[in-house]
Amino acid sequence: MLLPSVTRYPAMIRLSALCLLAPLAAAAADPSPERARELVRMVRQDCGACHGLTLKGGLGPALLPETLREKPAESLRYTVLLGRPGTPMPPWNTFLTEAEADWIVRQLMTGFPEEIR
Ligand code: HEC
Repeated sequence: MLLPSVTRYPAMIRLSALCLLAPLAAAAADPSPERARELVRMVRQDCGACHGLTLKGGLGPALLPETLREKPAESLRYTVLLGRPGTPMPPWNTFLTEAEADWIVRQLMTGFPEEIR
């Protein structure tokens, strides 16, 4: 009688650990494919108005992997969310969640996707 319950125990622990981790994983998850498409369009059009349609720079600096590589992703994320007061870089936190800004920064740092039409 004792043996089966002991052997079942680790499985229960593993299961409850999964339940605890699941919401965290969901919070940090990538946007849905539809939302990702919207975000790509937004960056190419709205951010591109200042940063260049190919993100090679304009009024704002280039947002290419080679220009962002040395910069901490965390501070770039806050630049996107809060803007840079005293410069034309506006805050985007009314349009983007933190996770979405994080996703955009990750895409910029690795090579931003082309718009899918
Ligand atoms: C109205 C013009 C404008 C728009 C629109 C704009 N930016 Fe900017 N952005 C700037 C300027 C100017 C800077 C440089 C600010 C400074 O002098 O520090 C900047 C800086 C940045 C930086 C920091 C770059 C670095 O090398 O440190 C990031 C990242 C960035 N913008 C991302 C975005 C994203 C993403 C969007 C769209 C969601 C966006 N920007 C839209 C003008 C703009």
